[in-house]
Amino acid sequence: MKNLIIRAKEIVTADSVNTIYKDHCVRIQENKITDILPFNISLTTAPNTEFIDASDKTLIPGFVQTHIHLCQTLFRGLADDVQLLDWLQLYIFPYENAHDKNSLRTSARLGINELLLGGTTTLLDMGTLNHQEVIFEELANSGIRAFAGKCMIDINTLFPSFKADTQNELSTTYELAKEFHGYNNGMIHYGFAPRFVLSCSEKLLKETKSMMQDFPKSLFHTHSSENKDEIRVVREMHNKDNIEYFDHINVLDDHTVLAHCIHLNENEIRLMKKNNSRVSHCPSSNLKLASGYANIPRYLKENISVSLGADGAPCNNQLNIFTEMRLASLIQKPFHGPEIMDAITVFRLATIDGAKALHIDDQVGSIEVGKKADLLLLDLNKPTLPLNRNDISLYSTIVYSGDKTIVDSVMVNGEWKVRNGNSVLYSQSELQAQGKEELDKLLKRAVG
Ligand code: GUN
Ligand code: FE
Repeated sequence: MKNLIIRAKEIVTADSVNTIYKDHCVRIQENKITDILPFNISLTTAPNTEFIDASDKTLIPGFVQTHIHLCQTLFRGLADDVQLLDWLQLYIFPYENAHDKNSLRTSARLGINELLLGGTTTLLDMGTLNHQEVIFEELANSGIRAFAGKCMIDINTLFPSFKADTQNELSTTYELAKEFHGYNNGMIHYGFAPRFVLSCSEKLLKETKSMMQDFPKSLFHTHSSENKDEIRVVREMHNKDNIEYFDHINVLDDHTVLAHCIHLNENEIRLMKKNNSRVSHCPSSNLKLASGYANIPRYLKENISVSLGADGAPCNNQLNIFTEMRLASLIQKPFHGPEIMDAITVFRLATIDGAKALHIDDQVGSIEVGKKADLLLLDLNKPTLPLNRNDISLYSTIVYSGDKTIVDSVMVNGEWKVRNGNSVLYSQSELQAQGKEELDKLLKRAVG
């Protein structure tokens, strides 16, 4: 059995009282944290135990991102400076439609590689219409913790060839959920993923929700209330706003994760609270697509679950939780004052609150005895970071000054995925070459 002790300068736990331990060790047995204890010289020679001296590093929980599109990583930089519906119509739907298994595999690998290097250990992915099993295979090959599912589309006025028949969507999804819910020793769970109201029939949404009864602990993951034109068309179709419509057809509950939720009316905020549904906040995407500002401080005041996601590479154009943390804080300050969205609050959104949103906070999201070993070692000894740190400025160092270059090592479920800033899984030059090759071929298919 694996037995490991890691000594760290500081352990930022994200537990319920934000405990920070100084010069402590975590003991990891197999895939779990079994002890947090003060450093003692005898620990360095504990029998049958590997000792890692990271006494110049800071140990924190792995980051959780609750809205990702792995299938879009290949499209970074190909869809800039447009608003949502044009972005989907002119670029993203045609490109996703042009995926074959090889291009999708490469896109997923590129995304997982980038997320792991940046310290994300759990993700919720939206998937794509075709070849979804490839994404599951790559998630499993990497060993990352994930909820994922086939993106479901049975209406598409923006790009009509990118959709499938309702019954097909439902039956393919059911088969995928049977195969992949609990896959890879429970590292992967199913996240049902109807794309958004504009691309889903009422039957598709309702039957997807009822299908979830066969898959306890699965999630319902969709986009909502992102863009004013989107909302206008939803009103034309259903005579309601997104959240009101979702509530009306009974798909909202505490296992529903809604990306964006930028433009909610008062009744919709009330419905989010009543149904205990979860907001995945994607500030970079919201700014880049000119979608708007979600009133996150208000949601937090109402005790609505909020967590963070980078969304897809072509609307960001990074998959970097440090960027999302920084923006989640900074964009609110001009509206709500400098104290709002302080560094501790935002650090929690990216860790324990993400785990709570996905109902896996009994397993990950904080460093506590009994939890799974999803851990990061950060190197905060850089001349570009604050030079004098106390407990509070430790959060500020990570949230305001941090970037992914401070991620030294990444462990998921007791296994190293990144060491000394390098991926244990992927050759960066091979990934890049494969990406270029697959993208060239995909662009030819998309034009042809
Ligand atoms: N709404 C429907 N599809 C998408 C997507 O791929 N990205 C974003 N940001 N919003 C969407
Ligand atoms: Fe999205």
